[in-house]
Amino acid sequence: MLVLGIESSCDETGVALYDTISGLLGHTVHSQVALHAEYGGVVPELASRDHVRHLLPMVSALLSEHGRSVKDINGIAYTQGPGLAGALLVGASVASALGYALSIPVVGVPHLEAHLLSPLLAEPAPAFPFVALLVSGGHTQLMAVKAPGRYELLGETRDDAAGEAFDKTAKLLGLPYPGGPALAQLAETGNATRFRLPRPMLDQDNLDFSFSGLKTAVLTLTQRIGADSKVDCEQDKADIAASFQEAIVDVLTAKCERAIEATAMSQLVVAGGVGANRRLRECIDLAGEKAGFRVFYPPVELCTDNGAMIAYAGAMRIGTGQKGALPFNARPRWELDSLPAIG
Ligand code: KG4
Ligand code: ZN
Repeated sequence: MLVLGIESSCDETGVALYDTISGLLGHTVHSQVALHAEYGGVVPELASRDHVRHLLPMVSALLSEHGRSVKDINGIAYTQGPGLAGALLVGASVASALGYALSIPVVGVPHLEAHLLSPLLAEPAPAFPFVALLVSGGHTQLMAVKAPGRYELLGETRDDAAGEAFDKTAKLLGLPYPGGPALAQLAETGNATRFRLPRPMLDQDNLDFSFSGLKTAVLTLTQRIGADSKVDCEQDKADIAASFQEAIVDVLTAKCERAIEATAMSQLVVAGGVGANRRLRECIDLAGEKAGFRVFYPPVELCTDNGAMIAYAGAMRIGTGQKGALPFNARPRWELDSLPAIG
């Protein structure tokens, strides 16, 4: 079965072709970073229009690159949510229109499920059950993944997500959007022990997180040492970036260790954009070696938003016979005598 995957929840347009026998045929991602850069963040209406411009041409290009036509597609998976409403609607309408025209099943995939199943696209892949740390721009969650579709929330952030904390702190330091990767890059040249930033909720006996105080601590620090002015303080900024990253990584690593202990599971999956962070991977790998659990990641290019993870998660659902209803509440039949009175 050949499944077309469509991702359009935020600022990346992603398309993919996943074959349930031979695996991922290919995928492409169009990033809107350049489009939003001058605004310092994602502008939802610009995002929607850009998805409209790119989605269908990307589907056609991917099909022809792999010598396939639309008629070869047996099912379509698209990101149904969460995400920006207008951006999601673009994927939903293209997927539904194509599915309707081709008379094939269309399923709406939860974006977070796709992230946490994405390590199954790597070699070696984890086996169920496993603990998943989902660290993206909008979410920071620890989940017990018992089987596809069976997820138990173990803990989550009470305020900012880890990626959001990276992005906001990057902005404070005057780094360009998207902040997370820019901050991580700057941290590579910094001294992570120069500033001791708080490790929020590390001492609490639960699997929850809180990152908004960390961002405030960085703000106070930059005001104290003047590192937000762009003159002559590159090393200060790099040291703040490294100290901030270390604090987040410390908390994420410790809570993963506790989640593994609490569930008595032996595999940890790390997914979502922040999972691309080199230092996070280094520390979690080390924790796994020490405590005897195995750590799995998606291929690096599938950490951030992409169509491949959507196609994969959708293929699982279509494989079990699931068929999504058309997501639009249009009424092709609407007898006037069935209407309620006005007023
Ligand atoms: O999963 P994702 O692409 O989109 C969401 O579903 O949110 O995650 C995006 C988030 C952003 O906050 C971005 O700054 C962060 O992941 N991110 C990183 C790195 N690469 C992306 N954060 C830290 N280090 C990175 N290398
Ligand atoms: Zn995402």
